[in-house]
Amino acid sequence: MIMVTGANGQLASRTLAELAERGVPALGGSRTPTDAQRHLDFDDPATLDLTGVSTLLLVSAGYAEDDQVVARHRTVLDAARRDGVTHVVYTSLTGAGDHLGFAPAHRATERMVRGSGLAWTVLRNGLYAELFGALLTWTPDGLESAFGTGALAAVARADLAAAAAVVAGEPTAHAGRVYDLVGDPITAGDVAERLGVPHRTIGLGEYRSRLLGDANLLPFQPPMLASIATGVRHGFLDDTGPDLARLLGRPLTDPLTVAADAAAAARPGTH
Ligand SMILES: NC(=O)c1ccc[n+]([C@@H]2O[C@H](COP(=O)([O-])OP(=O)(O)OC[C@H]3O[C@@H](n4cnc5c(N)ncnc54)[C@H](OP(=O)(O)O)[C@@H]3O)[C@@H](O)[C@H]2O)c1
Repeated sequence: MIMVTGANGQLASRTLAELAERGVPALGGSRTPTDAQRHLDFDDPATLDLTGVSTLLLVSAGYAEDDQVVARHRTVLDAARRDGVTHVVYTSLTGAGDHLGFAPAHRATERMVRGSGLAWTVLRNGLYAELFGALLTWTPDGLESAFGTGALAAVARADLAAAAAVVAGEPTAHAGRVYDLVGDPITAGDVAERLGVPHRTIGLGEYRSRLLGDANLLPFQPPMLASIATGVRHGFLDDTGPDLARLLGRPLTDPLTVAADAAAAARPGTH
């Protein structure tokens, strides 16, 4: 049996839907399970029952400080070994993302996955086109960002979910492989042009000040978001690669459309 963790998150729920569309039986695990899912909270070891699971698709449980994220992943990998899981597939971060503030938690988890004694596959996911669009800020006359003219090899989340389903459905064919799953490069200016508005670049200092002044952000988030901005702005995240289209066996979803839709949805007055 395949188990997909984080089943109520956007990536995991889409992956479960992809598996179901392919007729591959799979079980979801979540902190907030539905009737058909198992209760699975990496912060609560008592919930980690992986009996009957052969392939574990470990969807990274980010949105916390590195030590907490790594501890979560260590706990679930220990449970996987204990309960007889044979193959773990981990959703990591693109190799180009080594400069990003949240890279260490992913790379530390990759080390644990490789050292787990289980068969493994690492999916090094690029940054979502949805995220890129959502990180552009609306002003009364257009869009602003700290991305400058830098491009991101943005990828539609649905394509990453489809790739995860391909790998989880036939894990032995992908054992010991690290796939770099990125999309096509797009800029903030491209998104603004698609939406028919201008894009204005702000400095990284101004961006960081705004982030630090945002009471809705947790302490780890301003440095994380500032690292994405400087990484894109200075051209560290724009490389494309063949792995995703090869796994999918089809062209990628257009990331510009996805990013523009995400930006448009965030436009004040849209809802
Ligand atoms: N590539 C990118 O651009 C990008 C962007 C943002 C995040 N990410 C990473 O990719 C992951 C999946 O992205 P997403 O779009 O699905 O994000 P999302 O919709 O916000 O989902 C967050 C995920 O984290 C899981 N989670 C959080 N705390 C957990 C815990 N204590 N135990 C088990 N699972 C826990 C959630 O599972 P349940 O709610 O079902 O328990 C859910 O699957 C994120 O968690 C993050 O690590 C990647």
